[in-house]
Amino acid sequence: MNSFIWHPNTQMKEWETFDKITHAKGVWLFDSKGNKMLDAVASMWCNVWGHSKKDLIKAIVKQSQKLQHSSMFNLTNAPAENLAEKLVKISPGMHKVFYSDNGSSSMEIAIKLALQYWQNVGENQKSRIVTLENGYHGDTFGAMSVGYVPEFFGKFKKQLFPTIQIPAPNKYRIPKGFTFSDYENFCLDKIENHFSKDNKIAAFVMESGAQVAGGVLIFPKNFQKKIRKICKTYDVLFVLDEIATGFGRLGSMVQYTEQKSTPDIVAFGKMLTGGYLTMAATLASKKIYNSFLGEFNEKRHLFHGHTYTGNPIAAAVSLENLKLYQKENLIKKIQKKSKIFEKYYDEFLKFESVGDIRHKGMLMGIEMVTNKKTKTPIHPNKSINKIFFEIGKKHGIYLRTLGNIVMLVPPLAISEKELDLLLNRTIQTIRSAQKHIL
Ligand SMILES: Cc1ncc(COP(=O)(O)O)c(C=O)c1O
Repeated sequence: MNSFIWHPNTQMKEWETFDKITHAKGVWLFDSKGNKMLDAVASMWCNVWGHSKKDLIKAIVKQSQKLQHSSMFNLTNAPAENLAEKLVKISPGMHKVFYSDNGSSSMEIAIKLALQYWQNVGENQKSRIVTLENGYHGDTFGAMSVGYVPEFFGKFKKQLFPTIQIPAPNKYRIPKGFTFSDYENFCLDKIENHFSKDNKIAAFVMESGAQVAGGVLIFPKNFQKKIRKICKTYDVLFVLDEIATGFGRLGSMVQYTEQKSTPDIVAFGKMLTGGYLTMAATLASKKIYNSFLGEFNEKRHLFHGHTYTGNPIAAAVSLENLKLYQKENLIKKIQKKSKIFEKYYDEFLKFESVGDIRHKGMLMGIEMVTNKKTKTPIHPNKSINKIFFEIGKKHGIYLRTLGNIVMLVPPLAISEKELDLLLNRTIQTIRSAQKHIL
């Protein structure tokens, strides 16, 4: 088949063809050849209820018969209004919602809000952003600058704006001479050191609860809370990215409530629409929002907006999605199901090629190594994604690895039986893939 599509994050030369997905139901994707695969990455971490969920389809159909799209420029619409109210209600400390249509854009907005806030309040010198190493916030230029993953973005380094990066505590790879708790304190001290010496810092930006794309790094308890506290002490804005980790992925509706670390600005995306349409939201506190108010000629308003900002169909399906979270008690169910992953820890760790597993809620990262003792990473030139994808497919699962990490990020409402099946099939996949790695 001759295709005109250029696929994301893909060496096109390596892939002659792509399986064509024709339809999907529940956790299963069906291709044009009649094969089915369990969607182990929730279609890029966004699918909540599985595919073809009737209530969500109905919400889309109903809204699309009334109003398909109408702009947020000078106008508003009921689904976007109702959704904003719901989002503010579930997000303590937040006051207003700025819509966009993907996670990267919602982070661009978060960055702009944080930078302009300080100009609004007359502290123009505050213009620097501090972040964590290996945080990921999207693929656009601002998002790449604050979420600089060297393997992904090295080619654009010169064009990115400078940020200050602080190491993030990784229990599996603690530098020599440190205990884990020493190292956590070392990272926190670094933040405090920067803040105490530099009055130009505008904001600290981090993923909430865990770094996902940068290696499935689950933050130790209270780490995020302590950073929040340091930000307060030194009057630095605290900006959270819950695009991958909010909405139940880590076992809480809003991860920062569990982390006891209310931000000034937070971004949601991915699972907001249940994974059916594209929408993201940046929420800001009253303090941030009020600083943007003024006379027109002061030009304090936010110069940002996208064509599909506040799209009513995306908002309607998000509202239905939120209703279902409550009706089906999804967060409680996730907390229970999360324990199923734990049963498999030992089996994964028995493999010579598995160095570490990291898991929280409905997210698991399996770190592959070539030498368990020395923790030697797989050579970056080796395309392990292709290996795992092909072998996973043979075992009936759709997998996508990130770097050395095999990611398990299933639809949140996956049944207990299906989750067992996924974990068993992942074990079989590793067993077959191992010889290509060691
Ligand atoms: C934490 C985080 N932030 C931002 C993004 C970017 O979202 P999008 O791909 O919708 O632009 C992602 C995507 O994976 C993410 O994981």
